[in-house]
Formats: sequence, C-alpha cells, structure tokens
Amino acid sequence: MPKTCVPVLQKTQSDENYVEGIVCKTDEIRENEMKSLDLGEGKILLVKQNGKLSAIGAKCTHYGAPLSTGALGNGRVRCPWHGACFNITTGDIEDFPGF
Ligand code: FES
Repeated sequence: MPKTCVPVLQKTQSDENYVEGIVCKTDEIRENEMKSLDLGEGKILLVKQNGKLSAIGAKCTHYGAPLSTGALGNGRVRCPWHGACFNITTGDIEDFPGF
C-alpha cells in the first residue's frame, strides 16, 4: 500500500468483522475537513482533526442525514437536521436529537 493512502477499518455488526479499504490519499483531506467516501459496502465519514484521521458512518442514525454537511466541533460532529452529536473516534452518540 502506498504511504499516502488512507486505510479505513469499518466495524460491522460483530466486533471481530471489519471492512478494510483505501478511500483517498492523505493529502486529499485537510485539517478539520470531513469527507463522505465510498468504502464499497457503504459510505464512511472521514475526518481529520488534530492531525489524526478517523472514520465513522456517513449517515446519522436518527433519520439518515448526511453527517458531512453537519458541524465539526472538538472531537464531535453535529447532525445538520436535528442536532444529534457523534464522537468522531468511536461513532458513539453523545447528544440525542432535539425535536
Ligand atoms: S437526522 Fe440526525 S438528528 Fe435527526
């Protein structure tokens, strides 16, 4: 694998199963940028913050809003539709939607 590529491991239903793929070159994403990229078996949201790359699901678990159009905060992305917040490292929901 060329050094400039970003490998992504995506958790599936079981913790032992991962999907791995190359989604872009490291110089194709800037600091504090979010990109929705196709991993073959679905889209991921690739985020670069503090020089570290993270990948979580590209769609909000509430009603499926594209998280790439949300707001990136310190370690979290806020859904653009109803405001749920997701940890960019784990993908865990940290703030629930506000209707
Ligand atoms: S679709 Fe994301 S909080 Fe509702």
